[in-house]
Amino acid sequence: MATESMSSSKKYLVTSALPYANGPLHFGHLAGVYLPADVYTRHLKMMGKTAIHISGSDEHGVAIMLNANKAGVAYQEYVDSWHKEHKELFDQFKVEFDFFGQTSSDYHEKEVIEWFHALNDKGLIETKETQQLQCQDCHSHLPDRFVSGTCYECGYENARGDECPNCGILIDPIRLLKPQCQICTSHNISPVNVTQYYLMLSKFESEFNSWLEGREVVWRNTVFPFVKALCKDGLQDRAISRDLDWGIDVPLAEARGKKLYVWFDAPIGYVSNTKKMLEQSGETDPDAYLKDWWQNKDAEIVHFIGKDNIIFHCIIFPCMSMASQRALPAYDVPANQYLNLEGKQFSKSSGWYVDAKEAIDTVGADALRYYLLSILPETSDSSFTWSGLQARLNGELANNIGNLVSRCLKFWAKKWPEGLKAEHFQGFFDSDIYKRLQELNRQQHHLIEEKHIRRALESYMLAGHEVNGHFTELAPWASFKTDPDSAAKTIGETSLMILVLGAMARPFLPDLSEKICKCFGLSFDDNTSTTLESIYRGDFDKIKDLVKEGLSLAESPQILVPKIEDHLVEEMNEKLKAKTSES
Ligand code: MF3
Ligand code: ZN
Repeated sequence: MATESMSSSKKYLVTSALPYANGPLHFGHLAGVYLPADVYTRHLKMMGKTAIHISGSDEHGVAIMLNANKAGVAYQEYVDSWHKEHKELFDQFKVEFDFFGQTSSDYHEKEVIEWFHALNDKGLIETKETQQLQCQDCHSHLPDRFVSGTCYECGYENARGDECPNCGILIDPIRLLKPQCQICTSHNISPVNVTQYYLMLSKFESEFNSWLEGREVVWRNTVFPFVKALCKDGLQDRAISRDLDWGIDVPLAEARGKKLYVWFDAPIGYVSNTKKMLEQSGETDPDAYLKDWWQNKDAEIVHFIGKDNIIFHCIIFPCMSMASQRALPAYDVPANQYLNLEGKQFSKSSGWYVDAKEAIDTVGADALRYYLLSILPETSDSSFTWSGLQARLNGELANNIGNLVSRCLKFWAKKWPEGLKAEHFQGFFDSDIYKRLQELNRQQHHLIEEKHIRRALESYMLAGHEVNGHFTELAPWASFKTDPDSAAKTIGETSLMILVLGAMARPFLPDLSEKICKCFGLSFDDNTSTTLESIYRGDFDKIKDLVKEGLSLAESPQILVPKIEDHLVEEMNEKLKAKTSES
């Protein structure tokens, strides 16, 4: 957790949608949610802001039950193993969380029960008699994905009991055509009368609407109008209980056997995980997670999500938060569009996906972070292709940053192994590029703070481009033959520009950033980090101390950005084809 050194009490409470502990994560998840949230939080922390990034596994719901049953393992065992898997992937990908918890844990259940009672006490939870499908062969109740059938709106044959993946509507399972039990495959299904608990959103409509009006200036134009359209016919009451045997019990004596719906408990995971984080960090006030964070007007709540989660984060959870008074509603919800795979939606079941783990093992975290950040689906859907990755990496990152660093620093290491003198660096502080880098640095900050992460990366690459232009123009390899001292000056000043680029890369490409900074004997992970943070914040004059007695390279640069070879792209494309034909 970074702490604010200045007097401002503003804080940032950043959340990333809790991934279902139900199968591998793919690039769509990473690009849609976790990478932008990671860049945003890393930036805030480097700026000295108090910021936390909270997420965790979403471990309830019918989809998980179905897959655990298919795999023949107990629910808890099943979610624990995916939880572990996802955590490892995030580590490899350098996505950092201040806490990454589990919704099947006791601390989460405790928090959810508090929310339920708070809403119930305010009269916002009521029971209603409704109809629900039941299988007449295996006698299972069939909420949500326990039933599938043909969509009554679009005719798609594999609609699920909760939504139609084809036309996107929320499904009323009773109206599904040709319903089929997903537990025993029977078509012998009839509706039965049951009582369920409802969240009475209709009662909260006017409060919700007055809050929503205030969001127009902040939310993206892919989000606000969409939310307005969703609630143009008023807010619908929603069933929040299910007849299942995995989930959190509805905490009322008369509700025996009923569990809370997964979407009721999941977003509360942001809050329970904050509580657990503070507890583990030694906080002694048990209410600090509410007072200092979730109920603190100075804490800006930002939910990073994919567009399919908008209704929950922009309508239902804000209503739950305001009505229960346990939390303030979101300040911003930067929902992203979809990242597809060669233009088609990722789909594990049809083999149309790239295993993110395997990809990291093949090309490394920096390469993937760079490519995904450069195609973030912030304003419209975008598409991952292996040849796109190769083109971006070889043509942009390797060419622009990788080459520059190795050309300049290798020349330094070879010609001046004993180091350069203070005067060789002076040109940097007097150069036009110094001012230009400051401008682009400020622009990068501004764009990240506005959550335009893709454009922030473009601005960063522009900085690299300008340093490249400067270096090529001065051509020290040529001037060295006649005027070695002037070549030394070019290397000295360009190296400091490279150091600035190294620090600026940190939120996007933490590994690459570290490798560059290490050449100068600096690291974000030791007591030299304050120097790097100052540089990141735009205080380039801090570098004067570093070079005032001259400087020799602490490490010679290794290959920073390995090129992606053609055969690798071919292999990956072959693999994708093989997986699709297998299934
Ligand atoms: N697990 C959900 C999904 O992947 C997201 C849950 S976000 C939360 O779509 F806020 F509800 F936790
Ligand atoms: Zn059945």
